[in-house]
Amino acid sequence: MEMAAQRLLFAQMLSMVCMVQSIIPPEKKSFSYASYTTVFKMEDYNATMEFYWAPFLVESNVDPPTMRYGTVVPVVKLESISKHGDNWKNVDYLIFNTYIWWRYPTMKALQGSFSNGATDSVDIDQNVAYERALKSWAKWVEENVDSSRTSVFFSSMSPTHMKSSDWNNTNRIKCWNETSPFPNISRIDVGTNWQLFTTAVNVIQSMKIPLHFLNITRLSEYRKDAHTSIYAAPGGKLLTQEQKSDPARYADCLHWCLPGLPDTWNELLFALIMYRT
Ligand SMILES: *[C@@H]1O[C@H](CO)[C@@H](O)[C@H](O)[C@H]1NC(C)=O
Ligand SMILES: *[C@@H]1O[C@H](CO)[C@@H](O)[C@H](O)[C@H]1NC(C)=O
Ligand SMILES: *[C@@H]1O[C@H](CO)[C@@H](O)[C@H](O)[C@H]1NC(C)=O
Ligand SMILES: *[C@@H]1O[C@H](CO)[C@@H](O)[C@H](O)[C@H]1NC(C)=O
Ligand SMILES: *[C@@H]1O[C@H](CO)[C@@H](O)[C@H](O)[C@H]1NC(C)=O
Repeated sequence: MEMAAQRLLFAQMLSMVCMVQSIIPPEKKSFSYASYTTVFKMEDYNATMEFYWAPFLVESNVDPPTMRYGTVVPVVKLESISKHGDNWKNVDYLIFNTYIWWRYPTMKALQGSFSNGATDSVDIDQNVAYERALKSWAKWVEENVDSSRTSVFFSSMSPTHMKSSDWNNTNRIKCWNETSPFPNISRIDVGTNWQLFTTAVNVIQSMKIPLHFLNITRLSEYRKDAHTSIYAAPGGKLLTQEQKSDPARYADCLHWCLPGLPDTWNELLFALIMYRT
């Protein structure tokens, strides 16, 4: 099993490891981090779970896993995917996702190639760029996946909860100190880019091989209480007391707690694997 995506799906991999690891004795399992790939091995089951870091799926200047979200304006090579794709071959289950890094209204598309040191870029509308990248991805899947062996999944966007006014809690700070889900499921708008969602659905429906859509966006929008908030550990370090007392700056309303919502995503994934047609 392999997950290729941004860190948000990393939580889903960790959730899956937590769900299965307790039945495996310590000497029969291993967990290892490398820069792009995190691997969990289950010896007796001849099974491996991998997470592969590729925030845009296609190649970009923020691919090195040391890059932090929001610190560099991304430049994306919309047609280039094989460098990452070479790491996704010959697995039984492939799960993809890409969204949060596409947050700029216009995206910078590289002219030329990174390997030749090109730096010139053109500005392209966000949705057009997203569609072009997903089409490159879809083409890669069609050309490289043997669908009699491999099941392919695409997970829809993981939403954020940045403005408490979105749920009419105007004196709160982002998702900080939220302890219950959104109360009224018929009214919800937390700023999710539904145009990108529709683009992903359209690209998937046009694909020549069967692809399973893991539709987690709306159900995750309700969970303003499920983010790591001030209990995140950016760069592996918990926040200091001083940072915790400044949630306007430090609360993380993008990543999710574990145990928590990513476990639900895995239950849905499990249902799709078991009952897909
Ligand atoms: C383990 O998996 C590999 C790769 O899929 C396969 O070639 C091999 O036969 C498997 N071994 C067992 C004992 O299932
Ligand atoms: C917030 O309040 C406005 C104005 O009363 C209302 O239109 C909107 O539906 C409310 N939103 C939620 C999420 O309750
Ligand atoms: C946190 O939220 C609760 C209600 O859910 C509220 O009573 C409490 O005052 C809030 N804490 C702070 C520090 O605002
Ligand atoms: C939830 O929102 C719907 C649609 O705006 C409204 O009709 C309903 O009364 C709301 N329910 C509660 C409990 O606020
Ligand atoms: C995704 O799920 C939501 C409910 O969570 C549903 O309203 C929507 O129609 C679904 N979209 C697709 C494309 O499956």
